[in-house]
Amino acid sequence: MPNVLILGASGYVGLALCQSLVSSGNHTVWGTARSAEKAKLLLQNEIAPITDADITKPETLSTIIAENNIDIVVDTTSAYEQAAQILQGVVKAATARRDTLAKENLVGPKLGFVYCSGTWVYGSPSERITDLTPVGSASLSKGKPATAVAWRPAHEQAVLAARDVLDVAIMRPSAIYGRASWIFSTWWGGILKAKKDKNCTDTITIPADSTARTGTVHVDDVASGFHAAIDRINGGLGSWPVFDLVTETIGIQDMTEGVKAALGVDAKVEYTGTHGNAFLEALSLVCRNEATRARTVLGWGPNRKAFVLNLPVYVRAWEAAQ
Ligand SMILES: *[C@@H]1O[C@H](CO)[C@@H](O)[C@H](O)[C@H]1NC(C)=O
Ligand SMILES: *[C@@H]1O[C@H](CO)[C@@H](O)[C@H](O)[C@H]1NC(C)=O
Repeated sequence: MPNVLILGASGYVGLALCQSLVSSGNHTVWGTARSAEKAKLLLQNEIAPITDADITKPETLSTIIAENNIDIVVDTTSAYEQAAQILQGVVKAATARRDTLAKENLVGPKLGFVYCSGTWVYGSPSERITDLTPVGSASLSKGKPATAVAWRPAHEQAVLAARDVLDVAIMRPSAIYGRASWIFSTWWGGILKAKKDKNCTDTITIPADSTARTGTVHVDDVASGFHAAIDRINGGLGSWPVFDLVTETIGIQDMTEGVKAALGVDAKVEYTGTHGNAFLEALSLVCRNEATRARTVLGWGPNRKAFVLNLPVYVRAWEAAQ
């Protein structure tokens, strides 16, 4: 059973992935936890917690990898500034392992590294794209990365450049829903407020562009996509180990009407734009891709489809999580 270390194990994607790996019976899972409470949550899920560790210190992360005989590291932290330091720690561990073996004239398997990126790196492309379309290129990209993730194409390149010592995969999920659906609170929050505030006939304002068309994917399907990449990481991903995970694209107006119906609200809605806020801007992108390579290369297929049809289930789960 490969030993997998999940950075961000108690997070939204991290926990779903841990559960998928543990329940397959094919992986032993370690996870980083930032508090005693989170460590307990991991233990209850049969995950070995790593507590009190500053994983942004390359020395610390490298030691954790070596001491626990980790084979594959998955970065689901969504760390922005520290993403490079995390990669450095993983490369350090991989290099040390390779060099130790080399002293005895041995080679071993490479350490695996899976990085959680996202479809925001495409921006709002001018035409239909796939995960083979270059991102961050002034001449060949079809869109400009969202400001919030302007740094990310360069980080993806750094991950790919580390392939001399690592087997890597880069996963790009679109906006993730299911259970807490936290990312959609920005769009759905005003509608819930209108529900609570029964007498309110005011127009609901949503801080988004009315043209927004977001890619969506359920959190469990994100987990199965990562899981499939982990199972194929030692050479089974081909020469371009970069995969979009998108199930559907949904226009914001369809989504809003669905959420209003689910919450029994029928006030008018106004889309007030993204106010120069980088996060709101990223949410309002127009998604023009689909995940065919994840299907053909990873054998991935989402189980949760028909987002709008099943929206009442997701809205109730989200409401309960507020
Ligand atoms: C676990 O590994 C076995 C053997 O490789 C495979 O047949 C099985 O599908 C895996 N289980 C899951 C849930 O991935
Ligand atoms: C709603 O309106 C009714 C009738 O005008 C009033 O009696 C009630 O107090 C109002 N409720 C709230 C929560 O404002």
